[in-house]
Amino acid sequence: MDAIHTPVLLEETIQLLAPRKEDEFMVDATLGEGGHSAAFLERFPTLRIAGVDADGEIQCKARERLCRFRDRMHFFIRWAEDFFNDYPPELPAPDTILFDLGISLYHYEQSKKGFSFMRDEFLDMRLDPACGKTAAELIANLSEKELADMIYANAEERYSRRIAAAVQKAKKQGPLISTAVLARVVSASVPAVYRRGPIHPATRTFQALRMAVNSEAEKLPVMLERALDKLKNGGRMGVISFHSGEDRKVKSFFREKRRDCTCPPETPICRCGGVRTVSLLTRKPVTAGKEECRKNPPSRSAKFRAVEKMYAGVNI
Ligand SMILES: C[S@@+](CC[C@H](N)C(=O)[O-])C[C@H]1O[C@@H](n2cnc3c(N)ncnc32)[C@H](O)[C@@H]1O
Repeated sequence: MDAIHTPVLLEETIQLLAPRKEDEFMVDATLGEGGHSAAFLERFPTLRIAGVDADGEIQCKARERLCRFRDRMHFFIRWAEDFFNDYPPELPAPDTILFDLGISLYHYEQSKKGFSFMRDEFLDMRLDPACGKTAAELIANLSEKELADMIYANAEERYSRRIAAAVQKAKKQGPLISTAVLARVVSASVPAVYRRGPIHPATRTFQALRMAVNSEAEKLPVMLERALDKLKNGGRMGVISFHSGEDRKVKSFFREKRRDCTCPPETPICRCGGVRTVSLLTRKPVTAGKEECRKNPPSRSAKFRAVEKMYAGVNI
């Protein structure tokens, strides 16, 4: 089976996270179909990678794609936050860690787990089928207010209240378990002008549900903290995010980690006595150029931030 997901910001990621010596070790914490990993392994022949993904099905695709790299690639079906919390003792500490958040095109188009409003499937949305409630169960259990708050908090959907009211009404007819029905209910509940807008009116509701099902907002700061803890001193960590709430969390996490130092960023050695854990490699998020946005539309919303972990306040 060929990969269908095109990795976003690939050249920018390679530029900022390229190994700086032989035999480095990288963790691709959100392996997906292995697009980023394949490019890194091709470009850097002595690099080894541990690929981690919560979804075992997509990892089968990555294994097929990456088997030609043999023992340079190690696979783990785990949530990234658990992987870093319980870091496999047989692996060296990572020189590089990459997070490419969210889900893959594979999930929308081939997983049959109800991520897309474009097809009629059961509203599941769990990346790990052994973990948590399905989207259908979540909809069944949340009150109208809880649903509205969740849709607003996760996706900043301005019509969250109307949508939640319509979903609540639809639930009275029977359990809401189908993506097609949910997409219709959402579309019918929003103003016509919104229906004619640049994105499908159910886009944000589906995003919010997926995030809630997989506890993405809660997990993000935890996995960043645990990953940074395992990263080698002098190692680099990069995060690609896809919506503003996620990017805000990444930005504030990185800024928090360099908070205590008041030295100018170009100062090689911290002289103010503050403790700086990271230096920012990107002052502003890196975004896709026009050509990439044209060729790979999901890249339009991608934002990439990267940091370097410091030797006890020394920026090497
Ligand atoms: C955007 S895709 C990665 C695409 C990949 N970089 C590529 O080029 O093929 C994100 C992947 O991360 C996985 N994922 C999302 N959150 C995760 C988490 N907290 N822990 C582990 N995997 C996660 C998803 O299952 C998905 O396969």
